[in-house]
Amino acid sequence: MYLNVKNLSHSFDYPLFNDVSFELSPGSSMAVTGISGSGKSTLLHICSTLLKPNGGEVFFDNKSLYRLSANELINIRRNDVGIIFQSHFLFKGFSAFENIELSSVLTGLPLEDRLLKRLGISHILKQKPGDISGGQQQRVSIARVLSKRPKIIFADEPTGNLDAETAAEVTELLFDYIRSNNAILFLVTHDLNLAKCCDEAYKLENLVLKML
Ligand SMILES: Nc1ncnc2c1ncn2[C@@H]1O[C@H](COP(=O)(O)OP(=O)(O)OP(=O)(O)O)[C@@H](O)[C@H]1O
Ligand SMILES: [Mg+2]
Repeated sequence: MYLNVKNLSHSFDYPLFNDVSFELSPGSSMAVTGISGSGKSTLLHICSTLLKPNGGEVFFDNKSLYRLSANELINIRRNDVGIIFQSHFLFKGFSAFENIELSSVLTGLPLEDRLLKRLGISHILKQKPGDISGGQQQRVSIARVLSKRPKIIFADEPTGNLDAETAAEVTELLFDYIRSNNAILFLVTHDLNLAKCCDEAYKLENLVLKML
């Protein structure tokens, strides 16, 4: 799947970006950095179908998101898009395992033990989100996203809550995933080293994306 972003502009109380365009092909990765409040999460929300911009369009495989039927949009969200949120929205009443299992229920794909082992969460699967650490919650939300096998992963500060060692493991996992599934990774991060692991790295500043 290709992601094509054309002439995006958006403002809330003040303008965040203007005329931003880029194209990502299967297997490629892109990082966006920038100071807090510069609009990185907003850009990620627009590209991942969650928010409509003031101007411009987002295309998945040459189809504008804004010309899809409600059903087409639901299918894209269910099957193609995986979003790792800056604050991971886990369901509090469900165990870690049930939270992850939800995406398998939606897509009908089996859950992989290997993924859970690699994320180091096999031993906390019975616990509820309130009883595990922030970093463990983050890894549960990553497991939930990857087990859907999305074609495009949108990751908002995926390593923000993690110690250096776990962050490195999660980074490797994300890049392995896009390599073996020919998927796209769109990453927002404050970590310049992580940004530079991507094929393209930008800073959102003065309304535009500048190459790092
Ligand atoms: N739904 C909204 N309604 C109104 N203003 C919003 C909304 N979402 C974001 N904003 C504002 O837009 C600006 C950019 O927010 P955004 O979350 O995109 O920044 P960010 O670059 O991701 O910051 P951080 O690095 O702190 O996560 C902020 O001033 C924020 O308050
Ligand atoms: Mg943000």
